[in-house]
Amino acid sequence: MKDKKFGATEVREIIIPGMRGCVTWYGDIVILHITDDKRVPIAMVVINLVTTYIEKLLVTDSYRRKGLATSLLLLVEEIAKEAGLDRVTATTDLSNQATLGLFRKVGYSELIAFEKRLDDMS
Ligand SMILES: CC(C)(COP(=O)(O)OP(=O)(O)OC[C@H]1O[C@@H](n2cnc3c(N)ncnc32)[C@H](O)[C@@H]1OP(=O)(O)O)[C@@H](O)C(=O)NCCC(=O)NCCS
Repeated sequence: MKDKKFGATEVREIIIPGMRGCVTWYGDIVILHITDDKRVPIAMVVINLVTTYIEKLLVTDSYRRKGLATSLLLLVEEIAKEAGLDRVTATTDLSNQATLGLFRKVGYSELIAFEKRLDDMS
């Protein structure tokens, strides 16, 4: 990562068409969230600028399929570029059709990862 441009807990207001949003830096962790007109959070994404990894991405049920996650991922790209990253990574389960569709639509390429569950070993 290039020289960090932002200090801890720096907050920046962002405009998402018709909505209010906010970006908060907690050191290397960045949280973007969008609120409705009553300032209730309806969508958020968390990215770790050290690992380049999207830690969390969530849109409230009733606001899904309106392009909010797409807007958040595009903002994540801007922030990652500003921070000098050359990629953004994310994982999801193969059964999560919404997330697979989203990442494909936003231009992410697919990698294969392996996992071994240790919690159900008898
Ligand atoms: C995945 C999630 C963040 C998508 O949020 P969203 O705001 O509804 O997504 P968008 O409106 O930006 O959708 C963009 C594209 O993703 C795909 N997509 C979104 N939801 C989908 C669904 N239920 N089924 C299939 N494809 C879907 C579509 O291609 C969609 O484009 P389209 O609406 O023009 O067809 C949301 O469903 C969610 O919060 N899910 C639960 C949490 C989760 O699984 N998070 C991801 C962990 S990595």
